[in-house]
Amino acid sequence: MDTTTYRAYTNIALIKYWGKRNKELFLPVTSSLSLTLNEFYTETTLEWNTQSNEDTFTLDGQILDINAIEKVSRFINMFRDLSGIHRPVHVKSTNHVPTAAGLASSASAFAALASACNDLFGTNLSNKELSTYARRGSGSATRSLFGGFTVWHKGIGDESDSSYAEMIDEADWDIGMLVVMINKEQKKISSRVGMEHTIKTSPFYKLWPETVAEDLEAIIPAIENRDFPTIGQIAEHNAMKMHATIIAADPSMTYWEPESLTAMNIVRDLREAGIPCYFTMDAGPNVKVLCRLSQAEEIKKAFEKHFSSDRLVISGPGKGPHKIS
Ligand code: ADP
Ligand code: DP6
Ligand code: CO
Repeated sequence: MDTTTYRAYTNIALIKYWGKRNKELFLPVTSSLSLTLNEFYTETTLEWNTQSNEDTFTLDGQILDINAIEKVSRFINMFRDLSGIHRPVHVKSTNHVPTAAGLASSASAFAALASACNDLFGTNLSNKELSTYARRGSGSATRSLFGGFTVWHKGIGDESDSSYAEMIDEADWDIGMLVVMINKEQKKISSRVGMEHTIKTSPFYKLWPETVAEDLEAIIPAIENRDFPTIGQIAEHNAMKMHATIIAADPSMTYWEPESLTAMNIVRDLREAGIPCYFTMDAGPNVKVLCRLSQAEEIKKAFEKHFSSDRLVISGPGKGPHKIS
């Protein structure tokens, strides 16, 4: 085989990953839990490089700078070492998600790349094993090796193999998200830098690991019971607690923009009007509204009073990565 293409979907954390205990291995401080989304994904083609002795990489048709190529090359080295095939490759990737805007492009990107590497280098890893490799490209990518509701276990000590993802529910029921595009531009502070700054300087961060453990313990049975309001309340509170630790960093920072607050208020108004929906936000200004998929159109209508419809995307749950023929 000379070429392979994989598609992997983004995932949005309901219980957030924010902080590494081991930066080299991307081992997280806490476990986390997400919902994979069907509408946002990365497609990555990997082929042996016959034109150059080095790896080459294009993203959305652009030839990337040496820094970006180095990140991808280092990632692919894991598969070269594993397979013993030390050949250069060409990577061609397309994001069907805004890049570096807090919509988890790094998650779909490294899940797609890991899946394509596994195929081209013939390493035959299971998705569980592959999730431990995707993790070393971007932490959130660990969870994109599976669909539905997926847990990323923080693992034990410095054991890379122990920090993997596992799907706990296919999410094949009435649940989805409305994504409110506040700003698709690249953020100024990457997730990586933002979480490091928070760990180092936020006095609230010491409260974070314990509160995440409690939220996880409560949300897992709520997912099993398909108890949507409980899932939503826990997720919204967890996101706000993460953003509180970020705001309390020194110097203080935030990923929010004024329109992020507008979106949060619309969610609160909808709830008061008896429509259950809950917001979550990541390292970027965009707001994701967790809702019943059957009520997503109605919720979108309410948002259309403030946001043009091209900024509002409804998504159902997504699946794990798959090969594109
Ligand atoms: P996001 O919120 O989009 O996940 P991050 O700051 O976590 O933002 O990650 C963005 C980075 O992920 C980009 O700067 C780039 O290095 C990497 N990335 C995004 N898409 C791809 C891709 N398709 N292939 C390889 N790397 C990618
Ligand atoms: C707020 O996985 O993008 O979206 O591991 O440094 O690549 P790196 O960071 P990344 O961080 C995601 C942070 C988050 C929460 C989450 O997805 O769990
Ligand atoms: Co990311």
